[in-house]
Amino acid sequence: MCGIVGYIGGNQAVPVLLEGLKKLEYRGYDSAGVAIGGSRICVRKYKGRLSVLAKHLSSENLDGTMGIGHTRWATHGEPSDMNAHPHINKTGGIAVVHNGIIENYMQIKAFLIEKGCTFVSETDTEVLAHYIDYFYDGDLTEAVRKVLREIRGSYAFAVISDKEPDRIVCVKKENPLIIGAGEGENFIASDIPAVLNQTRNIYLLEENELAVVKKDQIIFYNESGGVVEKEKFEINWDVSAAEKGGYEHFMLKEIHEQPKAVRDTMYARVKREEPGIKLDKITLTNEMLRKISRIYIVACGTAYHAGMVAKQALENMTGIPVEVAIASEFRYVCPTVNRDSLTIVISQSGETLDTLMALKEAKKKGSRVLSIVNVQGSTIARESDDVLYTRAGPEIAVASTKGYTSQLTAIYQLALYLACLKGSLSETEIEEIKSEMLKLPEKIEKILEKQEEIRSFAKQYASIEDVFYLGRGLDYALALEGSLKLKEISYIHSEAYPAGELKHGTIALIVPGTVVIAILTQNALYEKMISNIREVKARGAFVLAIAQEDMGEVESVADHVIFIPRVDARLAPVVGIVPMQLLAYYMAAERGCDVDKPRNLAKSVTVE
Ligand code: G6P
Repeated sequence: MCGIVGYIGGNQAVPVLLEGLKKLEYRGYDSAGVAIGGSRICVRKYKGRLSVLAKHLSSENLDGTMGIGHTRWATHGEPSDMNAHPHINKTGGIAVVHNGIIENYMQIKAFLIEKGCTFVSETDTEVLAHYIDYFYDGDLTEAVRKVLREIRGSYAFAVISDKEPDRIVCVKKENPLIIGAGEGENFIASDIPAVLNQTRNIYLLEENELAVVKKDQIIFYNESGGVVEKEKFEINWDVSAAEKGGYEHFMLKEIHEQPKAVRDTMYARVKREEPGIKLDKITLTNEMLRKISRIYIVACGTAYHAGMVAKQALENMTGIPVEVAIASEFRYVCPTVNRDSLTIVISQSGETLDTLMALKEAKKKGSRVLSIVNVQGSTIARESDDVLYTRAGPEIAVASTKGYTSQLTAIYQLALYLACLKGSLSETEIEEIKSEMLKLPEKIEKILEKQEEIRSFAKQYASIEDVFYLGRGLDYALALEGSLKLKEISYIHSEAYPAGELKHGTIALIVPGTVVIAILTQNALYEKMISNIREVKARGAFVLAIAQEDMGEVESVADHVIFIPRVDARLAPVVGIVPMQLLAYYMAAERGCDVDKPRNLAKSVTVE
């Protein structure tokens, strides 16, 4: 989703801004622009990829050592040069880049039109430029503060003015914004990778904070205008972690990083030689747990699919009833959340606004919140009572892969941890599951060795237009994730169904040649799945099965089988998803799709 960068220092701003924007491309966008500051502000912005902006900028010499830049993911108004950011006031002396939504922009716009402003775009952002101008009285920070008192919504934005070319003023509310501190230069960005080539020293803006960023100084203010002292934190991961490292796409690289992501997520928490599970920073006590009558899980997209697995793991291991809700639906479908609830929030980015709003709703109702998050210091992590970090490293491809498997790994740890607290599993059972968990990375490695088999299957079937994914129990949760992977990056229509439900309507769509992917990782459901495969075969479907190694019989029913190593059925999703990720990847690559940046999608969705 929209990406913000800013630079102020001694170097030319254009290359720094372009490099930063390039690193934010993964967030998803449809236009890009920059404003270079000084005693006159120059704005250049174009619909399309960053390369379009870069090409225009290369043909002229935009001189200036400070500026702001933006990649826009359209919400208010189509992707166009005019709607692209930065937006300016009528004199062009104020320029703004913004991520999020100003919800009451229509009223403000009407007010400003009455005051004589003319609007040239359809965006909500343009009101910010005019409104800051309206309040401007020689102090940019003060004008921004006045605007903040009037606007509603969620946003991060950055502003420059030709009257105060020594500063960038920026604000964060429910949208990410970080500040990179350099020597005689400073940076702002929506995400850490955008500044990592320049500095490893980062400040995180907290909710409703405002920062005045100059080349030698950064001043932070809280909502009431008081100065806030902040600690820098140093990024310890490598720049190369956010680069492709020889792979054609980030997605393929991230699929291959899964053994490491899963292993790292277990590090120091799941140990063969120590009993139980060690989750150091979790403050939930046995006493608190005893009061919890229900667990609610909220998440979006892939993280929601991880939540479906979490429901079964938590119920089986702790006996506590669990509801799982899509975050944007949470407030409508889970009205019973209360002080006796534990809400588990799952988010790779830690910035998804739907998920954050669900978290706030849960907190408002008195629930304790524990989040499973990948990005350190993200808003969701900071708003939660407890955080269990996954350690997948930066995930850049829009389609989540290592994010998902590391979320599952964290979920099993949490379920075991709660089971230990509660005494709901015996020590032997806990040690058995732990020992199976520790084998997961090498089982994923085994599947990655089957890459060529999957690639040649994908090559053969890349032109299909419909696919059905079938599974029962945990395999249905897996089917949903497999299907999402395929549709989001290859644009092939696909649906996931509980295998037993197909006959109640959707089987009408199965005709000779329809491709069905049948998932069989659950030994207890094996026979029923075989019957469901026979049903679709009887209608002429082509069946690709994904099955555990010891389910050899499936070969006589399905047209093609990809075998996964034998794995404890409870942990099977971590292993079973990998062939489906590879399949989606190769289908999309074969169809010539932009795998890492699929159309219309954003990595971090910061609007509701
Ligand atoms: C977006 C992405 C999905 C992701 C979802 C939740 O829609 O395109 O891939 O699963 O957000 O993201 P989160 O960062 O909260 O896990």
